[in-house]
Amino acid sequence: MRIEFTLNGEARAVEVAGTTPLLWVLRESLELSGTKFGCGRALCGACTVHVDGTAVRACSYPVRYVAGKQVRTIEGLERDAVGRAVVGAWIDLDVVQCGWCQPGQCMAAAALLSADASPDDATIDGAMSGNLCRCGTYPRIRAAIHRAAATLRGEDGR
Ligand code: FES
Ligand code: FES
Repeated sequence: MRIEFTLNGEARAVEVAGTTPLLWVLRESLELSGTKFGCGRALCGACTVHVDGTAVRACSYPVRYVAGKQVRTIEGLERDAVGRAVVGAWIDLDVVQCGWCQPGQCMAAAALLSADASPDDATIDGAMSGNLCRCGTYPRIRAAIHRAAATLRGEDGR
């Protein structure tokens, strides 16, 4: 079936089976390899992208569900202030270790900050609990989300 949607601000169309996971379409059909494959079973969060602003697991999200919707991937994260704040904080605090989980972490963080500009530790831990990091960067992820939130509130002196 033909599926039309907006991807990182650009109109796109693909001709695939509607049950194909969105992750496959992003990585194979559209050659956007920033979104990662981890478990393939909606358990690790490595494949997190946004559909109409909501974080979803692309490995388990049938592509037919994005018809007519806005999809954002890590490649488009810096298109808005929240995404730029997240990426800036990740760089400032040197969050990344091996990096595999980090696109998904950043997308989950951006979804959180879009909904809550001042999340406390418990809120951050709850929102990020589905995004696993085998390198154990959780303390830096939490600190970076606080940093990004401060940036968005204009409280980090930038
Ligand atoms: S690859 Fe999608 S949740 Fe793990
Ligand atoms: S940075 Fe290596 S898995 Fe998270």
